[in-house]
Amino acid sequence: MDFTITQYEFGQRPPVSLPSPLFLELLSESGIRKMVSDHYDLLSKSEIKHLFPRIEEALDKAKQRSSDFFIQICGGHPYFNENRGKPMLARRHATFAINAEARVVWLNCYQQVLSTLEIQDDVKQSFWNYLNVFSFWMVNTNK
Ligand code: HEM
Repeated sequence: MDFTITQYEFGQRPPVSLPSPLFLELLSESGIRKMVSDHYDLLSKSEIKHLFPRIEEALDKAKQRSSDFFIQICGGHPYFNENRGKPMLARRHATFAINAEARVVWLNCYQQVLSTLEIQDDVKQSFWNYLNVFSFWMVNTNK
């Protein structure tokens, strides 16, 4: 596995390729929901925990929204569109101050979670490549 984190210039929106649909097929919806839950649990203990909900019910809702999104972009049921409308994720992140360092912490938490998944590497790699590139879209401050 190559968990490289690519650095981009502030303001760049690099072109994104969606993960392989096999990621959802191999993990199933419940596997994706567990992955996202584990990621949020790591974020809640990380240097960027101030960004995420502290109250359990709010954290559970956040987990659900993110899982809905990942299931949808892996070719699954459009839960996110049904529950939240069009993703427009950069806009939804605009209320949080996300700098390049915060993105690295966020990605490091995903590295940890993905390392525990027992699925074939090329499929896992396609999910990582997606996160590596698209996470930069959420970087909205260079302070
Ligand atoms: C591939 C990159 C990312 C994806 C696909 C993603 C996805 C999402 C989704 C779907 C939501 C829920 C939005 C809503 O329904 O309103 C969300 C919320 C949020 N994301 Fe991200 N995100 C990404 C990167 C990041 C990064 C890099 C950070 C910070 C370092 C971040 C911080 C947050 C915060 C603070 C929220 C609001 C709280 C919550 O609902 O969890 N996200 N993200």
